[in-house]
Parts: sequence; C-alpha cells; structure tokens
Amino acid sequence: MEIRAAVLEEFGKPLVVQAVQLAEPGPQEVLVRLVHCGVCHTDMYTASGADPSGYAPAVLGHEGAGVVERVGADVTLVKPGDHVVTLFSPQCGECVHCRSPKTNLCMAIREQQNQGYLPDGTTRLHRGDEPLRHFMGTSTFAEYTVMPQIALAKIDPEAPLAGAALFACGLSTGLGAALRTAKVEEGSTAVVFGAGMVGLGAVAGARLAGAERIVCVDLSEERLALARGQGATDTLVGGPDAVQAILDMTGGFGADYTFEATGNVNVMRQAVEAARMGWGLCTITGVAGKGELLEVIPRYLIQGRRIAGSSFGGLKGRDDVPALVDRWMAGELDVEPFISHRISLDEVNRGFDLMHAQDGIRSVIDF
Ligand SMILES: NC(=O)c1ccc[n+]([C@@H]2O[C@H](COP(=O)([O-])OP(=O)(O)OC[C@H]3O[C@@H](n4cnc5c(N)ncnc54)[C@H](O)[C@@H]3O)[C@@H](O)[C@H]2O)c1
Ligand SMILES: [Zn+2]
Ligand SMILES: [Zn+2]
Repeated sequence: MEIRAAVLEEFGKPLVVQAVQLAEPGPQEVLVRLVHCGVCHTDMYTASGADPSGYAPAVLGHEGAGVVERVGADVTLVKPGDHVVTLFSPQCGECVHCRSPKTNLCMAIREQQNQGYLPDGTTRLHRGDEPLRHFMGTSTFAEYTVMPQIALAKIDPEAPLAGAALFACGLSTGLGAALRTAKVEEGSTAVVFGAGMVGLGAVAGARLAGAERIVCVDLSEERLALARGQGATDTLVGGPDAVQAILDMTGGFGADYTFEATGNVNVMRQAVEAARMGWGLCTITGVAGKGELLEVIPRYLIQGRRIAGSSFGGLKGRDDVPALVDRWMAGELDVEPFISHRISLDEVNRGFDLMHAQDGIRSVIDF
C-alpha cells in the first residue's frame, strides 16, 4: 500500500515527508494504523547525524500509538481493532533476558532491529526498488507501520491515543526508572536531575512509589513548575552548587535515590555524588554524547553508593506499559500537561525545532 511517511534522506537535513510503499505484514508481523506519535530527542539525534549507529534512508519515529489494522498468519498476541503502543524495546517472553526479572533487554530481534531491519533481515518499507529502513524497528512518523507482534503493547481502548503515545518512550522511561530500576521505597527521599519528559516521568514514578520527599533539579523555572505538578515537593535550579544544596537539604547525607535525566555527564556525576552514603542508588537514564565518559571518585562507591543504568525504565514493554496506562486511566497519572504542541506529519521538522528551543515537553503528531 502507499502511505505518507517522514524519511531521513540525509543526515543533518530536514526530514522529507513523501509517499512510500509499505508491504503486507509477514507471518509474525502486524500492520498498525498510527493515530499519534510523539517527537523525541532520539529521532532528532539520529537525524542530525550525531548518532554513530544511525542509518539512512529510513523512516524515523518511535513514540507511536495506533490501532491494529491487519495481522500476519501466525500472530496471536493482537487482533485487528486492538489499540497498541509501539515498543522499540520488545518483549518476546522467551529469551534468556525476558525470562529473567532482572532486565528488559530482550534479545529476540536485537541485531536486525539495530540495523533498521525487521527480524527476517528485510524491510517492508520501499520507495520504488529502494528499501527504506525501519528506524528503531518502529518507523512511526508514518500513517501506517509494520512491526513484529512482540514489539506491540496492547492497551486499554479507552485510553486517549495522544497521551498513550508518550508511554512508548520518554514517560515510561522515567516512570520505570523509579518503579522498576530503582524500586523507590515508600517514605524515601528522591532527587531527579532534569525535568524533561524522562525526568518528569521519574518524579511521577517516585510519587507513585510513595517517596516522601522528591527534589527536582532543572535549569528552567517553567519546567520546575511542571515538576511540582507531578509531585515534586522541592525544586532547585541546577548548576555547580546542586550537590551541596542537596546535601544541605538531607542533613548532610544525600538522597536515598537519585535520577539523572539530562544526558550531561557532569550532571551524571552530580547525581552520583548526591546519592546517600551507605545505600544511595543513582539511576542514569540520559544518553551521553559520543565518546563522553562519566567521572566517578571510587571512594563514593566504597562508601555504599551504587549506580544503575536504565533503558526504557527497565520495563518489560508488553506487560508493564499496559499496566502503566491503566494507572493513568485510574487517575494516578496526569499526562495532559506533557503534550505541549499538536502538529501534523508535514510539520515534523517543526517538532524538531520546538524541541531544540526547549519549547514545551512533547510535540505530538496527529495523523
Ligand atoms: N534510557 C532510555 O531508555 C531513554 C529513553 C528516552 C530518552 N532518554 C534520554 O534521556 C535524556 C532526557 O530526555 P528528555 O526527553 O527528558 O530530555 P529534555 O531535553 O527534554 O530534558 C532534559 C532536561 O535537563 C535539564 N538540564 C540541562 N542541564 C541541566 C543541569 N545542569 N542541571 C539540571 N538540569 C539540567 C534541561 O533544562 C531539560 O529540562 C536524554 O539524554 C534522552 O536522550 C533515554
Ligand atoms: Zn524516545
Ligand atoms: Zn526476549
């Protein structure tokens, strides 16, 4: 079928919205009609050419929510009409990592997905004879996409799909970092560095976990106000004195849990140093620039501080994303404030411009 999609033709150039061909789903694959898609930093990072593992031409986009249109012959996990969130982090349920409760890094389709191919090593996207690759295995800057069934989370059909799209990446990453990776305990103190989509999700996750004190650190007063709306009890303007300010707020000890959601290695170091001696756990979610290193004084670790990294919040997507959407539907999460701009697919490059200018938390494409 012919669909409209935003194609990364050349690194560092605007995406080109155009007609492309999408083939029918294979036996284990699903055709999804996208209804909404968020515009995320990872899309912009890849489009810029800064990502060394990027590839082109490819259809970008990975924060998708939509409706199952058709399924391949062997699909059992979803059926036409189901509402789904796309997962760049799939869950096969069978591989060594899926069987362990310790990680969400499913191994089933990793190698092909990292190169922009579906699991059989080919693409369903074409332009004439030329294959177009499936960015992150999702390619959701498009009216329709074909994805493996293990990479779709089936959600409550009552959930508005614009908000649901945010659970495909940033929001779930922050929520999961607090709830899954760090497993924040009731009554504890948490500090979140960064109040973008991921950091605000971590603030909300810490609140859901029952943290008593939640400090959010950011450079923008506007974003700190959003953090208070998500449950931050204290806010702090970031900078070189942030660690000392947090020590002063916590009787000189530091926080039980710290979260880094900026992508800045200096802030990562602050997040380590602001964690409490004895048991403080620092969870890193930010993606650092190519070749950048995190500096940690080993004594900080000997004194009992720990560091964890978190990809997609440690969430097992097919199980955990629908459960988070249910908590939203139950009124435990307030997602609306994150949607700052509604744009059309043709305006996708404007979505990048808005993100670059830090104008709003998320632009969401309406298909
Ligand atoms: N681990 C994952 O699976 C995953 C998933 C999605 C995004 N990410 C990464 O998470 C990071 C955050 O993503 P986002 O969408 O929330 O980004 P964002 O740019 O919207 O938010 C980052 C925030 O950090 C703040 N900040 C910058 N310097 C600071 C400082 N010195 N002190 C305190 N705050 C500071 C900015 O003001 C901004 O509000 C990015 O690096 C992104 O690539 C990781
Ligand atoms: Zn993302
Ligand atoms: Zn798996």
